[in-house]
Amino acid sequence: MTTFYSFSHLSGHEAFTRGTCPSPGCLFQSIEQPPGWQRVPRAAFITLQTPFILGSVFSESCTDEKSHRILARLCLDYSSGALTGDLCEDLCVAQKLVYKHCLYYDRGKKVIQADWRGQSIILKSKKESFSSYQHLSMLEEVETQDIPETELLLMVALEVKNALGLELSNNTMEPLWTRKKGPRWKAQVASMWSLLQQEEYIYFSLLQDFSKHVLRIIGSCGHFYAVEYLTAGHAWHKTLFPLENVIGPSLTGHRSRVRAIIDIALSFLDMVRHFDNDFSHRLHLCDIKPENFAIRHDLTVVAIDVDMAFFEPKMRDILEQKCTGDEDCNFFDCFSKCNLKIRKCGAQRANNNLQVICDKIFRRWFSPNLRGALVSLPLQLQLQKAVQECAQPGHTGATGHQRTLKSFSELYHLLRVTQRELRGAE
Ligand SMILES: Nc1ncnc2c1ncn2[C@@H]1O[C@H](COP(=O)(O)OP(=O)(O)O)[C@@H](O)[C@H]1O
Ligand SMILES: [Mg+2]
Repeated sequence: MTTFYSFSHLSGHEAFTRGTCPSPGCLFQSIEQPPGWQRVPRAAFITLQTPFILGSVFSESCTDEKSHRILARLCLDYSSGALTGDLCEDLCVAQKLVYKHCLYYDRGKKVIQADWRGQSIILKSKKESFSSYQHLSMLEEVETQDIPETELLLMVALEVKNALGLELSNNTMEPLWTRKKGPRWKAQVASMWSLLQQEEYIYFSLLQDFSKHVLRIIGSCGHFYAVEYLTAGHAWHKTLFPLENVIGPSLTGHRSRVRAIIDIALSFLDMVRHFDNDFSHRLHLCDIKPENFAIRHDLTVVAIDVDMAFFEPKMRDILEQKCTGDEDCNFFDCFSKCNLKIRKCGAQRANNNLQVICDKIFRRWFSPNLRGALVSLPLQLQLQKAVQECAQPGHTGATGHQRTLKSFSELYHLLRVTQRELRGAE
């Protein structure tokens, strides 16, 4: 029997999780996790993007009160010696790290905006309390000073292998690793352990020195890590990113906005090329939407939510599932094809980052209704056509690869010509 609680007397979240659902979209009712790869086995092959839509419809926004409570708890754990980090003193004692707003929805990861010594920053943690993270039982059994570094390093390597699906050399793991021994070493190791359970933290930390397209990490306190505050995108925003925050209110004339959009589009292309080619494995972005990117003052595009980013080996594992049709092989923005003979999805992703960015970001910018008189009409039309072609669903294999390369260079060329035209007109 299908049983539904009346929505009116339940909070959105309860209504979402407790009812027994008659439609395929409701299969998500059993999913307790916020977006994150742990959800992959259960949610992997259900309709594209439903959880995000449901997430925003059903879950409530954060409140200042709740966020203050989370930070108070963090500081209590700091004062009891359970956790530590280079920002704890500023947050909990000197009050040089001051809460401003919260930006998360109730069931998402905790995202808090704060001021730190005159700079805007973001504090992030997948879960709200330190105790919700898996405990390192080893810390109780032995004196922390006695844990050999090699053993800890091995544990870090295992966590990284788990999160990224990659085996990394010891020196690559350096940014994740606490070497300082001292009176608070136990708290240091426990804090490091809570951070290591957050895939996003692992990605950001490891890519810090290799990529300008990921968030800079500023520091941490317990299970919260601090990153730079940037201008994040919003699907409802006319230009997707609030450009006035990036280029300044004095430059928000039509020409400055168009110039900024062209520069940002070129930075998206640079990010695509970089994620495709510059690491030992291709990095696939499976949740592409304006909200998951932000812009620095120099107009660089930055990936701010990499919960759904996967290096090639892990992407292949995720995609290679049983299927009865292509629709079973869609994992959010990452698709493959169903091989009906063996009833298995191909491990190779059939679309790519560029195609989804063209579809979900560029189409919004370069569509007929955004035309203005600043750029010559033939160029605008060429750009629109190139974006439409680039956004077409992928062809697999060599044909698909050739098409992507062609789309990439065509778009790059047209954006550069547009950039020059805009400069020339000044
Ligand atoms: N570094 C940042 N600078 C500015 N805003 C941010 C930053 N990180 C996150 N946000 C804002 O918080 C929202 C939620 O963060 P995100 O990491 O995407 O969490 P979730 O996994 O819940 O989607 C983003 O869509 C963005 O609006
Ligand atoms: Mg997000």
